[in-house]
Amino acid sequence: MHTNKTILVTGGAGYIGSHTCIKLLEAGYDVVVLDNFSNSSPEALRRVESLAGRPTTLVQGDINDHALLARLFGAHKIDAVIHFAGLKAVGESVEQPLRYYHNNVTGTLALCQAMQTAGVFNLVFSSSATVYGDPASLPIREDFATGATNPYGRSKLIIEEILSDLHRSAPEWNLALLRYFNPVGAHPSGRIGEDPSDIPNNLMPYIAQVAVGRRDHLSVFGSDYDTKDGTGVRDYIHVQDLAEGHVKALEWLDRKEGLKAINLGTGTGYSVLEMLKAFEKACGKPLPYKLVDRRPGDIASCYADPAMARDVLGWSAKLGLEAMCEDAWRWQRDNPKGYE
Ligand code: NAD
Ligand code: UFG
Repeated sequence: MHTNKTILVTGGAGYIGSHTCIKLLEAGYDVVVLDNFSNSSPEALRRVESLAGRPTTLVQGDINDHALLARLFGAHKIDAVIHFAGLKAVGESVEQPLRYYHNNVTGTLALCQAMQTAGVFNLVFSSSATVYGDPASLPIREDFATGATNPYGRSKLIIEEILSDLHRSAPEWNLALLRYFNPVGAHPSGRIGEDPSDIPNNLMPYIAQVAVGRRDHLSVFGSDYDTKDGTGVRDYIHVQDLAEGHVKALEWLDRKEGLKAINLGTGTGYSVLEMLKAFEKACGKPLPYKLVDRRPGDIASCYADPAMARDVLGWSAKLGLEAMCEDAWRWQRDNPKGYE
């Protein structure tokens, strides 16, 4: 199948972007990737092409480069943009707020300006469950109050507000603001996956590096939360399901219903210790851990009400915890040093 549609994927070499590019190519879209490789490797795209059996077009550069964007939109007839490019490390954002706001907020402005000039009005934006701050109740619905506790989260909120203003200013814009919960797992081939350049901040890649022997134990941040076993609870979603959600979001843009913020989660919360147990089962060995203090800024529990994604996009997560851990382990085991 070929759709005759071309999608610009910013940040397409990254973790979520690479998995989404495969789904897009499989669904018959042509794909142009814009990435500056600040947190990814060209090797990821080579593997995307070999897995999908079709090429992508790579434009190497920065979303803040206005001239490059003008050339890109001049050279390719783009039907819609999926905008993954952004910096995402919460702790780093606290130390380098200007860098985060410049990259994420100013970069999104540059992208939207170029889209407007080129007459491209279809955008899928990577937002995050972090925009809910510490939610008043669970599960989290899209109409809940928003708030941010760090510059990374604030950059997502600011962008959501800018995109809302854009939509109010000109009704031809169609905008899907996808609020991801906790993406984990990898492509079932074990050929692409999450490849943190530093010590992982996030739970699943940290556990995977313990399993492969790169770290000696997991520190469990807090065991006195008001949760099932005292450890933090999150809504982990398989990156393959998440990628599929983007294909559905493109189809929704075509229905021209304007702007919507939509949760992409499973609706199920798992604790840190449940995640560790499931990963031990997948890799077939016990994994050492220590209970330590809470990590500042963390909340006890967070999981989605996934009803809107089901009703609006016709999408629900299909893959469970077992697949998340097995696929993450296959990727880590077969690529102990990532794409290096
Ligand atoms: P990632 O770092 O793996 O991918 C981001 C990609 O964007 C990288 O390839 C990077 O090189 C590129 N990039 C960054 N700044 C750029 C710029 N200025 N110009 C061009 N390319 C640039 O991250 P990911 O996990 O795939 O996340 C993708 C998006 O989803 C991000 O916007 C992130 O904030 C958001 N998100 C991620 C998570 C998560 O836990 N992974 C959760 C919620 C939201
Ligand atoms: N955790 C540990 N040890 C670790 C890492 C994490 O115990 O080494 C715990 C955390 O305390 C938390 C859970 O594992 O209870 C998940 O932590 P992550 O860092 O994997 O994920 P967060 O929910 O803290 O945040 C992630 C992204 C954010 C994003 C948010 C919602 O890092 O950018 O999901 O999408 F905003």
